[in-house]
Amino acid sequence: MGASGRVGGAAAQSLADNGAAVRVGLRTPEKWTGPGAAVHFDLADAATYSALSGCAALFLMWPPGTTTAQVGALIEAARSQGVRRVVFLSILGAEKVPVLPHRQMEKLLMASGGEWTFLRASYFMQNLSTTHRDDIRLRDEIFLPAGQGRTSMVDVLDVGEVAALALQGGHAERAYDLTGPAAPNYFEVAQVLSDGLGRSVRYTDPSPLAFVRLGLKRGVPPSFVLFMLAEYTVARLGRAGRVTRTVEELLGRPANDLRAFVQRELVAWR
Ligand SMILES: NC(=O)c1ccc[n+]([C@@H]2O[C@H](COP(=O)([O-])OP(=O)(O)OC[C@H]3O[C@@H](n4cnc5c(N)ncnc54)[C@H](OP(=O)(O)O)[C@@H]3O)[C@@H](O)[C@H]2O)c1
Repeated sequence: MGASGRVGGAAAQSLADNGAAVRVGLRTPEKWTGPGAAVHFDLADAATYSALSGCAALFLMWPPGTTTAQVGALIEAARSQGVRRVVFLSILGAEKVPVLPHRQMEKLLMASGGEWTFLRASYFMQNLSTTHRDDIRLRDEIFLPAGQGRTSMVDVLDVGEVAALALQGGHAERAYDLTGPAAPNYFEVAQVLSDGLGRSVRYTDPSPLAFVRLGLKRGVPPSFVLFMLAEYTVARLGRAGRVTRTVEELLGRPANDLRAFVQRELVAWR
């Protein structure tokens, strides 16, 4: 699932590159142009869970807007249809935050009786080319309330490649903390973007209040403004900078760094 999204898309591509048979479950399979066979699947519609029939392994992610109960029902359906292992896209530090939906889903998987692997990913580099793209593209600014805090951001392509590896077995009952190779603060991120783009991108370091006010004024939905405030407060408090070598250990090559990511995605900000 999630193959039309960032990590799921990278996982599907990596699996196909490894010669694995891939089935992608999508709400709009007719639009799929990537690898594998596309079938109709909607987490919000249990009647579509039969899409799992005959699958050996499931890449599971939590699409915002769906519920823990729906994920629980999918985990049960996977078990009853003989899916042996589930690789779940979680969040770095989830084990310390019991109220986080991702942690609740981890617990459901641990109790499910099947094989599980958790990919606890740090912030995605791709947030810069999706969520924050227009701030950079149109206003030459990074606008988020992370203060001087460091973030060990990871490339989604690395997370997808690790997902593909785990889906093919040998990683049962493991929780992997996946980060990039360094933890820049957003002044440094702005410098990397400026170097890559050949124009000046500034990190404007708004206060939490200024971030909320301007976000709302720009028409960002209130719930998303508050979600980002919470997310970047973690960085502001110095809690998002832990770097691990797990990607390198698993893939046998260094994790992709921010400069390489920026070069690859330059078109997003032009
Ligand atoms: N952003 C970060 O920095 C970060 C870091 C760590 C973990 N995460 C976690 O990563 C997850 C998001 O992964 P992503 O960024 O790869 O996803 P994404 O690019 O936002 O794409 C979302 C995917 O979910 C699918 N989807 C939405 N509703 C669905 C439904 N009802 N049934 C089935 N599929 C549905 C979408 O498919 P359609 O084509 O059907 O819309 C799409 O493929 C979230 O759980 C997030 O908390 C994010």
